[in-house]
This record gives sequence, structure tokens and C-alpha cells, in this order.
Amino acid sequence: MIDRLDTRETESVPATGEAATTIRLETVVNGRPVSAEIEPRTLLLDFLRDRLGLTGAKRSCDVQVCGVCTVLLDGKPVSACSTLAYEAHGREVLTIEGLARFGELHPIQQAFMERTAIQCGFCTPGMILTTKALLDENPRPTREEIAAYLGGNLCRCTGYWMIIEAVEHAARLMAGEEDRS
Ligand code: FES
Ligand code: FES
Repeated sequence: MIDRLDTRETESVPATGEAATTIRLETVVNGRPVSAEIEPRTLLLDFLRDRLGLTGAKRSCDVQVCGVCTVLLDGKPVSACSTLAYEAHGREVLTIEGLARFGELHPIQQAFMERTAIQCGFCTPGMILTTKALLDENPRPTREEIAAYLGGNLCRCTGYWMIIEAVEHAARLMAGEEDRS
């Protein structure tokens, strides 16, 4: 994948902190090639938040339980708090910041808004990205399949029903069966 990248557009991210043994990370984040020297122990969540300024993915439990740090790695949800940044080498990362295109919300974002599936919003980026992975895999999931797929994304506010309805609404929007309001 990296071989196809136009290096003229590669964003080079300066290293931070003390000099240390570093490795070069070549990845694609939200469609943009990124090249950076990182410490091998750097976590993907820290790289995204602290080096790239992409703060949509949050940190809470820090032990791969709550899902608020979810991003997509080659289209699959991962907990960025428990994933090494170097695991993204030669792969593509999608964060919530990369979902809207040309100023227009993704249908999943639209559906979460329209179904009021958001309260405090802390869990929402992870919920939406996990939903994207689900609907890319399975465009018409049942309620049980939605609940199972989103089982690793905890929400303390919504009671989950509005989230499940939003996922169903997103599936219909993406299938062209309903119009955006
Ligand atoms: S902060 Fe990563 S799973 Fe909770
Ligand atoms: S909306 Fe608040 S934790 Fe989910």
C-alpha cells in the first residue's frame, strides 16, 4: 500500500521529546500519507492525538475495555490505546476526523444526529467508527448483530436503544432507502 503513495504529499511529523531509538512509521491517516520517526513503544492513540492533533479518539479505560479510543485499521476497529503506532505501518488508519467528506457528514454521523444517539458524545467517535466497520461488512445487520458488534463500545448516557436505532437508520440511508432530513 505504501508503495503507491505519492511521497511529495507525505506529511513528515517531527519527533518529540528526548532523543531515543526510533523507527520510521509510514502510514496513511484519513487518506493522507504520514511519515514519522517514533519510539517503538509509542501507542497509536498517543501518535494520533499528540503528534497529529487528531483528538477525536478519546482515552478512558486505557485497557481495551471501553472502546472510546476506537479507530479503524484497514477498515477494522481497533482500540488505539492498546495498539502500537507501528502496527499501522504500511496500513490505513481512519479516525472520526476522516469520515465526513467535502464538508458533508457521513450518513452514519447524520443518522446518529437524527436519532439523538448522542448525549455527552464521549463514546460517539468510537461508536460511529465501529458502526462503519459493521455496515461495510454487513449492510443490513439485525438488532442482535448490531448489539453484538458494538459490544466493545460502552456508553453511559444513551441506554443503547437510540444507538441501535441510529445504526438501523444509517443502514437505510446508506442503502438509499431513506433520504437525509
Ligand atoms: S481507552 Fe481504549 S478501550 Fe478504553
Ligand atoms: S453519549 Fe455519553 S458515553 Fe455515550
